Amino acid sequence: MSNDHELRVSKIRDGTVIDHVRGGQALNVLAILGIDGGEGEELSVGMNVPSDRLARKDIVKVEGRELSQDEVDVLSLIAPDATINIVRDYDVIEKHRVERPSVVEGVLSCPNPGCITTAGEPVSSEFEVLEDGVRCSYCGTIVRDEIASLIDAD
Ligand code: CTP
Ligand code: ZN
Repeated sequence: MSNDHELRVSKIRDGTVIDHVRGGQALNVLAILGIDGGEGEELSVGMNVPSDRLARKDIVKVEGRELSQDEVDVLSLIAPDATINIVRDYDVIEKHRVERPSVVEGVLSCPNPGCITTAGEPVSSEFEVLEDGVRCSYCGTIVRDEIASLIDAD
């Protein structure tokens, strides 16, 4: 699809391209991946670039990094149409669409300070995935727009 006119972000050699990210969500994708550039990660971000599948898309390219299933699960919540492309020696060797899980366990933390999952008890978090957000399985708190802010800092 990309020709020399359209290519805005250069190709990578080895790593992961997260493509077809909803316009404006690229920085949340980076938050989910725990990338702030401070560790010298080699990365390119395109925001609000024209796309045929979405009106505007974001794209994130990370050199030398593959994603865990947990990361892909959380990504799917903010970027439901995203494509994950694994690149080796400049070729896309694997491409798949993200899938929204029905439940995400242990990767988001509940914003409710009274929730049993945040009370220092040995209960790990669990959220049901809704059409437009997530709901804590323990206290019922629903989060729609700020999902990326619930990501557990490692
Ligand atoms: N890409 C990259 N570096 C490479 C190879 C591919 O950054 N060495 C990027 C492309 O720029 C594109 C994405 O990875 O954004 C997927 O590449 P490709 O499958 O070649 O592009 P399309 O066919 O346009 O993908 P799709 O059909 O998923 O839109
Ligand atoms: Zn809760």
